[in-house]
Amino acid sequence: MLASKFMTKKGINVGDKVRIKSKGNEFVGIVLPSAEFLEIKLDNGYNVGFKVENIESIKVLAKGKTPAKPARAKLKQDPSLPLVSIVHTGGTIASRVDYSTGGVSPSFEAEDLLASVPELLSIARVKCMLFSNILSEDADFRFYTELARALRKELLSDSKGIVVTHGTDTMHYTASALSFIFENLPKPILLVGSQRSSDRPSSDAAINLINAARFIAKTDFAGVGICMHASTNDDFCYVLPGTKARKLHSSRRDAFKAVNAKPIAKVSDAGIEYLSDYPKYTGGGLKIYDKFEEKVGILKVRPNMFAEEIYFFEEKKYKGLILEGTGLGHIGITRGKNKENYKAIKSLIDSGCIVCMTTQCIFGETNPNVYVTGRKLKALGVIFLGDMLSETAFVKLAWLLGNFGREKAIELMPRSLRGEISPTRGINLL
Ligand code: DGL
Repeated sequence: MLASKFMTKKGINVGDKVRIKSKGNEFVGIVLPSAEFLEIKLDNGYNVGFKVENIESIKVLAKGKTPAKPARAKLKQDPSLPLVSIVHTGGTIASRVDYSTGGVSPSFEAEDLLASVPELLSIARVKCMLFSNILSEDADFRFYTELARALRKELLSDSKGIVVTHGTDTMHYTASALSFIFENLPKPILLVGSQRSSDRPSSDAAINLINAARFIAKTDFAGVGICMHASTNDDFCYVLPGTKARKLHSSRRDAFKAVNAKPIAKVSDAGIEYLSDYPKYTGGGLKIYDKFEEKVGILKVRPNMFAEEIYFFEEKKYKGLILEGTGLGHIGITRGKNKENYKAIKSLIDSGCIVCMTTQCIFGETNPNVYVTGRKLKALGVIFLGDMLSETAFVKLAWLLGNFGREKAIELMPRSLRGEISPTRGINLL
């Protein structure tokens, strides 16, 4: 039985203090949000999980209290400052730890950000909107489409730019999606998250938001970027290009880095220091291409692969596949059972699926011309993507197929549309 079901049956709620007997031992702790196993936080701070079947008895010692909501900020906006829109989508940046349970929940509403970061009001007038309250691992293509439609209104308003507060796990996918969706962006969209929730002393929520607002208030950058903590100290943030950034650490605050590219700018108390060229608005109406083809996947290449893994995409009628290859963009096709991989890729391409190749090295680029493997794959019709990140390639392929169809997607995948391929790295692609 699932722990959640067990809890409902026993009338146990998150936050209750319980005594559990399991396998002859006794444990006392606070019930945490539980799915498969019943989890409790012990007094010593450690969490323990129990298989429901192993619980001999459970007794509620004290009922938990519903935590009070924090007080709303009193907004005193300075009319002389530029307007910055903050669109909240979810994630740790707007979460807090419930210390009675130890769980992190995405429970803040957008204005609550101002309660924890009142400094924002000395940088800009701030308009907050609650778009969603999701963990970013739950984002899907529909989320990108609907978010883009909500952002469109702000892009056409008198706002100087938009901060999108977002969970960090898939922030770089959303940054890529928004980069492709909008053409002729008139102003900046910055995705901002935090690795530590705002009620922890080490939180990066405030510095990330403050620097994003600072940047938007002054910049003429007109594109999609990620603004996140960039050092081990609380001293500066980088604004990173939306199609060339990646989360490279699971927990450090300086988790996001530009890959095969330079940050756009360094932002701190000292102001903005631009570090590379960046897109500016040159006129023309805002265009939105907000559709995505659902049947697109990524397959990470590894030793000892089976051709059936590739045939899966044909059987399930996928329209696009990113092979995240080894080294310069390889998958074993020349020896033993690997020869079946070659046949499977050929069959997949013949079925109409677009197959592209990136490198799992993260840094560097693909090159199909160095080894026989690359040459054979290229001859089969695999499209090599240079230094485009796999995550960006995945989003781009789904976006091209969704808006422009197969032929256009084949033509445009190896060309840089939003800076996703470095200018100096495209030489082996076409
Ligand atoms: N799972 C995370 C997410 O929404 C929450 C943590 C975070 O924001 O980094 O991406």
